[in-house]
Amino acid sequence: MKVAIASDHAGYNMKEELKKYLNELGFDYKDFGTNSSESVDYPDYAVEVAKVISSKDFKYGILICGTGIGMSIAANKIMGVRAAVCESQESAKYSRLHNDANILCLGARIITIDKAKEITKIFLETEFEGGRHSKRIQKIHQLTGI
Ligand code: RB5
Repeated sequence: MKVAIASDHAGYNMKEELKKYLNELGFDYKDFGTNSSESVDYPDYAVEVAKVISSKDFKYGILICGTGIGMSIAANKIMGVRAAVCESQESAKYSRLHNDANILCLGARIITIDKAKEITKIFLETEFEGGRHSKRIQKIHQLTGI
């Protein structure tokens, strides 16, 4: 399974570390940038990755900025995207089990790289629980039109 990954300058180092970790876990990825620690604008990266999730070209995305918040706000404006900022393994687990989150947003200024690795592993390895949660997710998209 292929993962779309991107960051802004604040998340660049974490992205590079997570790419190595994705290889270790046996996941393929495509890196959508950025390619250095030079200052860039996170919406450019969030929207590009969100579009390939929306089109179902990729099942999961990972977006990293300083807090994860800007990336999540931007990504959640794209149709069919459910982006979740996760700062713990628990939130990563439930973002998949209950929310069927398809983009994981991480804050490189908030959590350590080791924590980001643990969160990423749980996010990518946890399946959506379905059942009563399916109706709620359908409502998110029906009620908002996105
Ligand atoms: C960049 O300084 C910072 O604002 C950005 O990485 C992110 O944290 C925004 O939400």
